[in-house]
Amino acid sequence: MDYRQYIAGKINVEGVSSEEIASLLAVPPDSAMGDFALPCFRFAKALRKSPVLIAETLAKEIAPDGVIAEVSALNGYLNFKVNKEGLAADVLARIAREGRQYGASDEGAGKTVCIDYSSVNIAKPFHIGHLSTTVLGGALYRIFNFLGYKAVGINHLGDYGTQFGKLISAYKRWGNREEVEKGGIHAVNALYVRFNEEADEAMEAEAREYFRLIESGDKEANDLFEWFKSLTLAYVEKIYDRLHIKFDSYAGERFYTDKMAPVVEELKKKGLLKESNGAQIVDLEPYGMPPCLILRSDGASLYATRDLAAAIYRKNTYDFYKCLYVVAYQQNLHFKQVFKVLELMGYEWAKDLVHVAYGMVSLEDGAMSTRKGKVVWLEDVISRCVEKARVILEEKNPALENKDAVAETVGVGAVVFGALYNNKIKDIVFSYDKALNFDGETSVYVQYTCARAASVLTKAAAEGIAFGDAAEGTPCAQEAELLKALSDFPATVHEAAEKYEPSFVARWCVDTAKLFNKFYFDCKILQAEADVRAFRLALTKATLTALTNGLELLGIGVPEKM
Ligand code: ARG
Repeated sequence: MDYRQYIAGKINVEGVSSEEIASLLAVPPDSAMGDFALPCFRFAKALRKSPVLIAETLAKEIAPDGVIAEVSALNGYLNFKVNKEGLAADVLARIAREGRQYGASDEGAGKTVCIDYSSVNIAKPFHIGHLSTTVLGGALYRIFNFLGYKAVGINHLGDYGTQFGKLISAYKRWGNREEVEKGGIHAVNALYVRFNEEADEAMEAEAREYFRLIESGDKEANDLFEWFKSLTLAYVEKIYDRLHIKFDSYAGERFYTDKMAPVVEELKKKGLLKESNGAQIVDLEPYGMPPCLILRSDGASLYATRDLAAAIYRKNTYDFYKCLYVVAYQQNLHFKQVFKVLELMGYEWAKDLVHVAYGMVSLEDGAMSTRKGKVVWLEDVISRCVEKARVILEEKNPALENKDAVAETVGVGAVVFGALYNNKIKDIVFSYDKALNFDGETSVYVQYTCARAASVLTKAAAEGIAFGDAAEGTPCAQEAELLKALSDFPATVHEAAEKYEPSFVARWCVDTAKLFNKFYFDCKILQAEADVRAFRLALTKATLTALTNGLELLGIGVPEKM
């Protein structure tokens, strides 16, 4: 049963739907106040009554039943306590029944959500700055699929532009096929960096000519470009595998080469295109924004032109319900402009485009510098974290089997979780030591908690202790808190999707792991009397299932032993 829905169904506020009430139901910080609370402040205006009075009136209207144990009003909040035995039996049964699907729903059935994330640049470093877009996008992809939406993961490759002319010029001058093949993206990027360091006017002109050759379909130039692209993709795909990231489409900027002219034509027809110093722009001054540049004075298209074409293409191809762009907040203006232009073109679906902006990630030692040659490659951060995890595991548990595999799961998880734990718009300073702290608010802590729960279950099995999945019992305080957290998981996943905040799931994992550990240390599990033991084992198993689901939504694995 969904407690929020159940309670919401009992509350009657004129003009407010029960879905809306369900989504307003919060969990009070102090469980002594109640298990759920409805803040009545936002009804005050419409009802022309004080929140205090609204809460008191509602409290009188609702009679306790088998589910709702107590209703009270306090300072404008309507507080509910639910029947703990009922909650326990209900949650345990549901988790046992749904297993790895616990938290999933079909609320998104029939709706497609396009998610543009990671969107790497060909021949450029895949650096720590790409961490957030990659793992946030990956988490949203899994969360939306889990909720029944059809998620379409799009890697909008940065594969268009004069830099590829530069790259060809550099390669022809200094490059060597075998060396580049062997060095992969690092060698390709080194050529590009060298070009930028050494180029004079003549080389710049040559680069422009090579770019023109790519554009005009010249075979040699295109073969080279495709080669650089395949080297880059082979490299990033290895990292995507480690991070458990998938895409359905790699349609990048270049894919829109032949799709921009019709957009420009359409802008012209709709009277939106204006000339300004030889360039073609859409004036956005009435909306307090600088103009959106569509064509440069030499006729070349821009980043925004390709995003306009891409949005229209995605709508036509996927008929999305929402199209998300998981891109750093530095591009706030860009997306505001693009969305506005689409709105001015008369596309009512422009309202369904969402820029999911996030903050910067830097390393504790200040190593994040975009100056030439000083870039921190994401792969190096991951590998270093895995190595450190390996050392810690060796220290903590020398007898552990499969240490390398566990270190990979723990180390990769720590990097991912580091980027997902905080509200996405916050800037993050990544610290290896903090991320790998077994007692911190970390994925390692959650993984270790899972391993602890698994080991209790293994011991029970070894001792031949049988227990049902959905044992009944009257929970003590620690158990009740844990049960409530478990019952809150589906609502947490829903909220995470609604706010595009995987951090809600990450926090839920840490909070729930804390509650499990409190239960584990305060209550005997295996030594308890048979019926209490059965209940606690069922609770342990349910916790392991729910935590596993939570971590996996974030793209983080759960080792059986640690
Ligand atoms: N490649 C771009 C960059 O690194 C990000 C692209 C984001 N997606 C988009 N549709 N503009 O800045």
